[in-house]
Amino acid sequence: MENKLRVRKIRNGTVIDHIPAGLALDVLKILNITGKEGVVVAVVMNVDSKKLGKKDIVKIEDVYLDEKTVNKIALIAPSATINIVKEYNVVSKRRVEIPLKVRGILKCINPNCITNQPREPIESSFTVISRKPIVIKCDYCGAIMSYQEIFQQLVSE
Ligand code: CTP
Ligand code: ZN
Repeated sequence: MENKLRVRKIRNGTVIDHIPAGLALDVLKILNITGKEGVVVAVVMNVDSKKLGKKDIVKIEDVYLDEKTVNKIALIAPSATINIVKEYNVVSKRRVEIPLKVRGILKCINPNCITNQPREPIESSFTVISRKPIVIKCDYCGAIMSYQEIFQQLVSE
């Protein structure tokens, strides 16, 4: 067991575990962590996982994620688990979940969509029409967005 410990346990904070291998830095991007904020972060990449073959892990000390951020992680890394650590103990563990409706997180790819009109801002809203792989449909114009577009928008904004 102990030899599986690549970085030490954290006292308080969030451990994002079971991230698909190779996506840890994209998860950090979603969290807006660049390293310059002073947050203590540990990143583990490409370690063996029973469930995934290989996985990444991100540990962030003294930071807790809001629901919107968790939903963004779900969209790009649906296998991830969010572990909340308090005084060295995992006090909560949950798998991220793509909600039925994705609201206010993504911009519709259709530039003419009503949600992209600058005058009267309307919150974007998409219905999830497939989860594996992720496909969403704009509730206003019907435009379809799949993983690649979602990923690009969340990770390069
Ligand atoms: N962890 C940590 N600091 C702690 C407690 C846990 O960094 N004080 C990390 C562990 O290293 C692990 C994750 O948080 O990456 C989840 O911990 P735990 O539930 O103890 O591990 P597992 O039982 O292996 O988790 P799972 O069943 O979700 O794979
Ligand atoms: Zn639209």
